[in-house]
Amino acid sequence: PTVGVVLAGGIGQRIGLNTPKQLLKIAGKSILEHTIAAFDSHPDIDEVVVLMTPGFTDEVAALIEKNRFTKVSRILDGGASRTESTWIALRALGDRECDVLLHDAVRPLVEPRIIADCVTALGEYQAVDVAIPSSDTVVVAAPGPNGEIIRDIPDRARLRRGQTPQCFRLSVIRDAYARALADPDFDKQPATDDCGVMLRYRPDVPIFIVAGSEHNMKVTHPVDVFIADKLFQLAASTAPVPFSYGDGLDGRTLVVFGGSYG
Ligand code: CTP
Repeated sequence: PTVGVVLAGGIGQRIGLNTPKQLLKIAGKSILEHTIAAFDSHPDIDEVVVLMTPGFTDEVAALIEKNRFTKVSRILDGGASRTESTWIALRALGDRECDVLLHDAVRPLVEPRIIADCVTALGEYQAVDVAIPSSDTVVVAAPGPNGEIIRDIPDRARLRRGQTPQCFRLSVIRDAYARALADPDFDKQPATDDCGVMLRYRPDVPIFIVAGSEHNMKVTHPVDVFIADKLFQLAASTAPVPFSYGDGLDGRTLVVFGGSYG
């Protein structure tokens, strides 16, 4: 069996509202509903577990009823960090063996193709991440005399931006987390994501990379709400081709989702 775990235990400090950002409505539904729908409706997903900000689980239960989601088996209180929320989910799944897809609730635009590719990759690998190439140059900063200075500029061709889902054989990710929790140094330098935990505590397990997409963005800052809203409008439109070059053969006009630029 394959379980989708929707991590919605955060508060969204960087958006700065009174309610968790995953309850913000975009295109008629909360971000969380869009994300649960992506997993609930996917043929490769058998079960969905939701980790929610403590105090908001009743709201999630109501949303699940309203949308008639059929695969959600549990709504659990999240932990103090994303890593803790993951650990709560892994523990709740018990000793059975299954595949888990851990997904940020605030990536509501995850395409069915990404979920399908992850499930396929789990047939061969015990750990799978989703990533896209970085169009920005990424610099490594270090403290300088009056602020930060650049310490390093890694070769952009090798850099990727990690997205989610991050996917694992349950017993393997649980083992990595158990080792992390037993390590007194883990708290001093916590990992920001599940593949970070895997890489550090089970370096013997290769992590396969599935191609993500620019649409699978993380709603983090206020401007992201605007961008995600536009992307949902596009997804709902009937435009068959995402972009094309030129209406004639002049090579000067770029048509992106029905808008003409040139
Ligand atoms: N998350 C979680 N449990 C936590 C913290 C985060 O399940 N204790 C989830 C968030 O709800 C989100 C995902 O992890 O879906 C990615 O985290 P991020 O975008 O950093 O969300 P927040 O922690 O809510 O945002 P911020 O850092 O701005 O507070």
